[in-house]
Amino acid sequence: MHIERIDPHDLDLDTADAMAEVVRASDAAGGVPIPPVTGPTLLHAARHGWDGTPAGALWVLRDGDRVVGRVHADLPWRDNTDSFYYRGVVHPDVRRRGGGRALHDALLEVAAEAGRTKVYTGAFEGTDGIPALAALRYEPVGTNVIRRISLHDTQPGLWDRLHAQAAAKAGDYELVRMVGPTPVEQLEDMVALFAIINDAPSEDADKEDDHWTADRVAAYDTAMAARRQTVYRVIARHRETGEWAGHSVLCVDEFAPATGFQEDTSVVRSHRGHGLGLLMKTEMLRWIGQERPEVGATDTWNAVGNHHMIAVNELLGARVVARYVTHRLTR
Ligand SMILES: CC(C)(COP(=O)(O)OP(=O)(O)OC[C@H]1O[C@@H](n2cnc3c(N)ncnc32)[C@H](O)[C@@H]1OP(=O)(O)O)[C@@H](O)C(=O)NCCC(=O)NCCS
Repeated sequence: MHIERIDPHDLDLDTADAMAEVVRASDAAGGVPIPPVTGPTLLHAARHGWDGTPAGALWVLRDGDRVVGRVHADLPWRDNTDSFYYRGVVHPDVRRRGGGRALHDALLEVAAEAGRTKVYTGAFEGTDGIPALAALRYEPVGTNVIRRISLHDTQPGLWDRLHAQAAAKAGDYELVRMVGPTPVEQLEDMVALFAIINDAPSEDADKEDDHWTADRVAAYDTAMAARRQTVYRVIARHRETGEWAGHSVLCVDEFAPATGFQEDTSVVRSHRGHGLGLLMKTEMLRWIGQERPEVGATDTWNAVGNHHMIAVNELLGARVVARYVTHRLTR
């Protein structure tokens, strides 16, 4: 087996498809019911990242010509500039043959060259990744629980009832729906909404706040469009002042629309306690249910300590499907 570093802009679809096959085989072997990833999804994620920053480094592991592993690493530059985040996978057929360690040696070299002293990754509970990370001298720093809401099988009428209850408490607010990129004149307002996520309990206490600017919001929107992720937003607006009080954001990957991905749901501090979280999320589910019948479910990742958000998700009928443990390399 040998490893090869690839420039994210040179990644071709055949290689990305082969990488996706490795990820799907790994999730299937580990019993992780995560939506099956596609090659185009990985290709565009490598080129555009989450907010317009391409992958900081990318490797494939090959057994002869066959792709049997991959690593995607992100080196943030707007904040957390001492950190290095990566996801790695080796095909179940070729595990315990040193491929994971070879990829790991290569990525540590790049992290060191870039002066990144904090190296983070993660693994799903109950899979080979957990003991492998222990062997590679990582320790767990926090857990995210993945919950799924079924758009097809949830009790009919549940979200209408909850929406009516929340609306009764939130009479001072109205909801606005937005699809796709934020209009330029609203970018500054959007910065305030994105920045609230820094209030959410992080799975890692050592993480710096995310630094949000209008340019970054625009870069996020552009990257999502390039990745064929359709961004649906429900925004709560305070009727009297016109102020944006919160938002809930859901992405539909048009390469794999069966499961939508819940991004932020956040409410500005001074507007908390009026049922806006429940109001916005029930609005989103009712909207997506009508607008996108092919979306069968939405997945949401919550840090275990995020009690308010978890309580809302449980009311909506979410059920736990997996747990993902973030790990940090110890020195
Ligand atoms: C984590 C993963 C990449 C390891 O791949 P691999 O090719 O089996 O790794 P290696 O053979 O190089 O093993 C690396 C070390 O982990 C240990 N290890 C790997 N799997 C293990 C297991 N199931 N139980 C105990 N130890 C294990 C090995 O013993 C080795 O340590 P050693 O060299 O001191 O013996 C692979 O299990 C995987 O793809 N898991 C799913 C994805 C994932 O969770 N990734 C997490 C890291 S991003």
